[in-house]
Amino acid sequence: MNRTDAVGPDAAVRAWRALADTSVLLDGFHAIKHALRFDARVPVALTGDRAEVLALADELAPDVRDALDALLVEVPEERLRALVPRLHPTATAALAVRPSRAANLDALGRMPRTAPVVVLDDPRNLGNAGAVIRLAAGFGATGVVTTGTLDPWHPTVVRGGAGLHFATAVERMDIAGLPPGPVFALDAEGDDIRGLKLPDDAVLAFGSERSGLSAELRERADHLVSLPMRPQVSSYNLATSVGMALFHWSAGRPPGLET
Ligand SMILES: C[S@@+](CC[C@H](N)C(=O)[O-])C[C@H]1O[C@@H](n2cnc3c(N)ncnc32)[C@H](O)[C@@H]1O
Repeated sequence: MNRTDAVGPDAAVRAWRALADTSVLLDGFHAIKHALRFDARVPVALTGDRAEVLALADELAPDVRDALDALLVEVPEERLRALVPRLHPTATAALAVRPSRAANLDALGRMPRTAPVVVLDDPRNLGNAGAVIRLAAGFGATGVVTTGTLDPWHPTVVRGGAGLHFATAVERMDIAGLPPGPVFALDAEGDDIRGLKLPDDAVLAFGSERSGLSAELRERADHLVSLPMRPQVSSYNLATSVGMALFHWSAGRPPGLET
């Protein structure tokens, strides 16, 4: 018996309404797939077409097919449309339980560390923050910390992160409370990154899209590091910079240590 038979569309929609305000919206098949792979708790998942989504899982993600089969409740697409801001082309959405702040802070503060923490100092662009979380998850970074007012669990950030908030520890913090470890702050005026090895316990800090690193973060930095850039180019995009720095860190390690 699948979930549609067991729960029924009315009960599933009621459960959705009860949980929506306090849960993380997983928008579309790929976000749900990633969240399930990284052990997110998903109390409700709805789709306009179970058979189509399960066929997609057979093709692209057989590892989560059984979990999806057990979870997905089919509801008419117009009912689903009324529950989400914009229905994903896969006509599938789920709600996940946000990991506890205490658990994330514990993961971020634990030493020794096997992979860096990424810090975004007062980021402004929600899409950039999502892209950075996706990069951090891909490289197996310990976590992503934001300072300032942007909420790293904002639905737009979660959408940009493709469900990978569950694969790394994501929290907002003050600079004074940043995780331990040497702070390598990325700035176009710093020492060329190619001349140094980034340690596994590094805190890699990046400035805001508008104004770069704050005075407080600069004060906290142990090293200022630059990415190679031709003269007359002012700066790279924030998420691109994080990608290059994480790649540089990973290039100093033997292959296969991502997991
Ligand atoms: C769009 S840039 C910020 C540009 C900003 N106008 C400034 O004055 O720094 C966002 C962040 O990406 C990183 N970044 C961009 N280009 C970089 C480079 N060539 N070297 C090191 N970091 C860079 C820095 O951390 C920077 O604060």
